[in-house]
Amino acid sequence: MEQRGQEPILHAETNNRMDKETIVIGSNTNSPLIANRLGYGTMRLTGEGIYGEPRNRDEALEILRQCISSGVNFLDTADYYGEDVTNRLIAEALYPYDDELIICSKVGGARKPDKSWHAFNKPDELRSSIENNLRTLKREQMQLVHFRVMPHSEVPFEESMAAMFEMQKEGKILHVGVSNVSREELETAMKMGNIATVENMYGHGQRTSVKMVHGGETRGGEEVLDICEANDIPLIPFFSLIHSLAKNEDRVAQVARKYNVTEAQVNIAWLLHKSPWILPIPGTSSLAHFKENLMADDLELSREDMKFLD
Ligand SMILES: NC(=O)c1ccc[n+]([C@@H]2O[C@H](COP(=O)([O-])OP(=O)(O)OC[C@H]3O[C@@H](n4cnc5c(N)ncnc54)[C@H](OP(=O)(O)O)[C@@H]3O)[C@@H](O)[C@H]2O)c1
Repeated sequence: MEQRGQEPILHAETNNRMDKETIVIGSNTNSPLIANRLGYGTMRLTGEGIYGEPRNRDEALEILRQCISSGVNFLDTADYYGEDVTNRLIAEALYPYDDELIICSKVGGARKPDKSWHAFNKPDELRSSIENNLRTLKREQMQLVHFRVMPHSEVPFEESMAAMFEMQKEGKILHVGVSNVSREELETAMKMGNIATVENMYGHGQRTSVKMVHGGETRGGEEVLDICEANDIPLIPFFSLIHSLAKNEDRVAQVARKYNVTEAQVNIAWLLHKSPWILPIPGTSSLAHFKENLMADDLELSREDMKFLD
């Protein structure tokens, strides 16, 4: 990725980041996709409460355009963001799409008119979500779709996963991933078919699962990272900034001061250094934050920094 207006901070002794600036999705298939590290999560481009149109539509469209011009070729979205808002913005800003662009969506959930989230994961519901994504994004095939496990689901996990693999066979989905999964669910899914990616909550400040107030869990990346690494499966972390920044972690602040960067940048750099199989997708509704987050890619943390932060 190009240098973005700041001298790179280089250390001879880096951690295990190696020269890996890209990550391969579906490396054990005959149709791998190559994503640049970092990606971008579009959820924050919606209105208040992840619902409705963005406060500043022009800024939202500009962030998406700047993804392409700055080398971000992995976008995370869902038809229940808005609803349909992020998918419509992506199509408006970027269609016809660059060949390199990977648009990753997720199914398994939906919103009620009162804006609450609920499971939408029966086979016919998953199919209607896929059709909706294809229609709005103007695609004939989704390149990567996560089945997102929702709390209070009455549909067995295996039944939803079977529907995902069925749609893959039909060609509606190229690669199938899973999201918000436990270790056991990931292992089950891997026995049923090829799992290209996992999207779980993960960041410096919150690495493991968290119980939700009304039941269910938000599943952490820590519990599945070793499985991902052992099987060449990229881990796409969500909520990696929001929980970490809220904790005002002193060690993060110290490293930020040491390199004269922001705490958000240290959090993102930590993910990039933590494992070559992590593909961060920091979310933002702000163009200034978007540019700031991209610059985290140039921050080289030493082994000592990583040890200190761990
Ligand atoms: N699979 C799933 O279940 C799931 C769940 C949630 C999210 N996701 C995906 O993961 C992506 C990332 O998650 P997320 O957007 O919820 O959370 P996030 O990346 O942890 O953080 C987003 C929050 O951090 C703020 N922020 C971003 N950059 C900042 C900076 N440089 N300085 C200060 N604050 C900054 C944003 O505010 P501003 O807007 O003001 O910058 C926003 O409030 C989402 O966009 C979505 O695509 C997936």
